[in-house]
Amino acid sequence: MDLAQLAALHAESLDAVASADDAAALEQTRIRYLGRNGLLPAVMKQLKDVPPAERPEFGKRANAWRNELETAMTARAAALTVQPSEAAPAFDCSLPGRWWRAGAQHPVSRVIDEVVRIFSRLGFTVADGPDIETRFNNFTALNTPPHHPSMDAADTFWFDDDKLLRTQTSPVQIRAMLAQPPPVRIVTPGRCYRRDTTDATHSASFHQVEGLYVDTTPVSLADLKATLAHFARAMMGPDVGVRFRPHFFPFTEPSVEVDFSCHLCRGQGCRVCKQSGWIEIAGAGMVDPRVYRHVGYDPDRVYGYAFGMGVERIAMIRYGIADIRHLYENDLRFLEQFA
Ligand code: PHE
Repeated sequence: MDLAQLAALHAESLDAVASADDAAALEQTRIRYLGRNGLLPAVMKQLKDVPPAERPEFGKRANAWRNELETAMTARAAALTVQPSEAAPAFDCSLPGRWWRAGAQHPVSRVIDEVVRIFSRLGFTVADGPDIETRFNNFTALNTPPHHPSMDAADTFWFDDDKLLRTQTSPVQIRAMLAQPPPVRIVTPGRCYRRDTTDATHSASFHQVEGLYVDTTPVSLADLKATLAHFARAMMGPDVGVRFRPHFFPFTEPSVEVDFSCHLCRGQGCRVCKQSGWIEIAGAGMVDPRVYRHVGYDPDRVYGYAFGMGVERIAMIRYGIADIRHLYENDLRFLEQFA
């Protein structure tokens, strides 16, 4: 053992103390250097073998090592046993906050909520029906003759002769009237299914909101027009134009189709409205007497109107979405715009 080796041990032991990061590690270091069989006592035992000329210097340095090491040990032990109250606070308010991504409502759900909100202020309640319907509810009770093209297997998803994926929310009209006497005042949001080829404005699965108002006091086409015009302004803003065109549905007479002026181009003509300035939003009309007979209502004693509107169509003009497929692709870059 010479002075250089002693200096190396000295330095190494101080490093070991400094890097001990808990009480157990510090104790291991103490045992290694200062313990009974530790390195420092071993060095002291070798003192007698050191050449006499070097011995005083060697002894002096070994003692200095012991003092320094013990001082460092004490200081390190104190640092490791800091009371929690003296330690850095557990909550460091100077750190940047953690970012939790907030989810957002899908535009289709948003439109449905808004439609329901507007009609509930007019006294409508929400009714519900299943996606899998019977031939009777989806077609027969809605006065759709057996040969009607919409019943064709090319247009409708049939499970068997009787069960099908509903092609419209209108069967919920039948369910509601079968379940209760008039007055009935309901809106019915839900999914519908048709064998349509998907393109920018069609999808095999889409959403409608059905409306039905039947009462024993007179209800007229004028009430229907006023209600839908009110809805259009509440939904799209005061500047929206509303247009009623004569049409035919088996379950309403007279029937109309309802167009809103195109919100995107303000009626100038664009891709979404196919240059017409108008977008078809709903079918509607006065409930046909044959429908009342199917549900056991007396057609001479009740009055009523019904409407069914396309949710995706409303979402597209409301939010300026040029292709219906964006609504189903779950692309976050699209959906995040509605956050
Ligand atoms: N069910 C019709 C459709 O899907 C819309 C409609 C509903 C028409 C209620 C009149 C009355 O096209």
